[in-house]
Amino acid sequence: MAKLWQKDYSLDSLMEEFTVSNDYILDQELVISDCLASIAHARGLADIGILSEEELDSLEQGLSEIITLRQKGEFSITPQDEDCHTAIEGYLTNKIGEAGKKIHTGRSRNDQVQTALRIWMREFSIRLCRETGLFAQALLDFAKKYEFVPMPGRTHMQIAMPSSVGLWAAAFAEEFYDEGQRLMQLSWTLDQSPLGSAASYGVPLPLDRTYTANQMGFTRVQNNVLYANNSRGKFEAMVLDCCDYIALTASKLAQDLILFTLPEFGYFSLPPQLCTGSSIMPQKKNPDGLELARSRSSVVSSCASRVKSIIRSLPSGYNRDFQDTKEPLMQGTKATWQLVQIMKRMLEGLEVHEDRLTSACVPELYATDVVLQKVLKGGNFRDTYKDIGLHLKDVQAMDPVQTIQNRTSLGTTGNLGLEEDDLFVRLMIEGCDEVLESYTAAYENLCDLEGVQAVLY
Ligand code: ARG
Repeated sequence: MAKLWQKDYSLDSLMEEFTVSNDYILDQELVISDCLASIAHARGLADIGILSEEELDSLEQGLSEIITLRQKGEFSITPQDEDCHTAIEGYLTNKIGEAGKKIHTGRSRNDQVQTALRIWMREFSIRLCRETGLFAQALLDFAKKYEFVPMPGRTHMQIAMPSSVGLWAAAFAEEFYDEGQRLMQLSWTLDQSPLGSAASYGVPLPLDRTYTANQMGFTRVQNNVLYANNSRGKFEAMVLDCCDYIALTASKLAQDLILFTLPEFGYFSLPPQLCTGSSIMPQKKNPDGLELARSRSSVVSSCASRVKSIIRSLPSGYNRDFQDTKEPLMQGTKATWQLVQIMKRMLEGLEVHEDRLTSACVPELYATDVVLQKVLKGGNFRDTYKDIGLHLKDVQAMDPVQTIQNRTSLGTTGNLGLEEDDLFVRLMIEGCDEVLESYTAAYENLCDLEGVQAVLY
């Protein structure tokens, strides 16, 4: 397909390679959302008399065909096409002629790509939120199962206070719940349609932006047309920031697991299916998955900062620099998606060694408990603290299960928050399901195909 802007000359080949780069490959991710947005735009054009009913029908049919082709991995975008927008218009013009040449009326590739990205990011965020919720739920189940299995609590990595596997796992459950909530909050920001903002300054046509927004299932229009274009990259960065927090938490969990599955610790172990070996040392059982979880976390973080550095000093309005925010968006979101999946798999495969965990609860772990028992009998804290500190050898081990049950019954570890967390996480997952159903309903209203998803992860 000739470029959409091509008139009477061809682009220098080096210039073409440089400007297109791998954007035509990345754009495969946006084909479905672009087609959905294009149907909404075509309906808007028909509504103001720019397309006839027959033209609209043929465009809707052509765009649905492209969605089906893309689902089968059979829609082609070539470097000469530049991007998915050109390939889609080319397909339509080839297939149905005149109507294909009309679909770009009143829009620019700038609001076109923005709308496709918005639909994509909106769906991705809720789907990631749901996955994060499911992972939090798995952590809570794990926490309940091992609620009273003792585990030394550590600070500075040194033995600190009696604790439990339940407390450790539930801590991550709460953290992932908060990460999910951040995505939920972001979904309101993402829920605004940029379609109709055109190149950055609107168009002199009576486009009904609210109508097209509703067709796509957006609650509202992104009102200011310049802001609609200026927010390119910014919303990507917000999504990636949410991903970054998830990845950061996953990395911390991975680090704990690397330590706790070390034979020297032996608190947990991973089945061989979740470990790799060495080409030279036959005894090795390496936690490569956990190590890569740690490094992927930095990859995600770098994607978030890459997007922000690209857009930081741009002037208002569309700039081609925006194109380069697509790669970190796709790389960072995919890496986060996979991170959540793999960490859930690790948790499911984790074996808990109660004997090792119990024997790790050495007498000094109870030093503070001994101090506080004495304080309850009347001593002042500071003198008792010093006394015990000077006679650590005399500290006797306590029953670890009793010490953690005692904290639970006193409510000082918040009974791990298991019941409340369970309810909140369940509500979050149900909330995601509802939102996703509303997106599906909007997609089905646009294209008569079942089970359409904009994000193919
Ligand atoms: N591939 C381009 C991008 O992602 C599409 C928009 C091109 N717009 C333009 N004015 N050159 O930004």
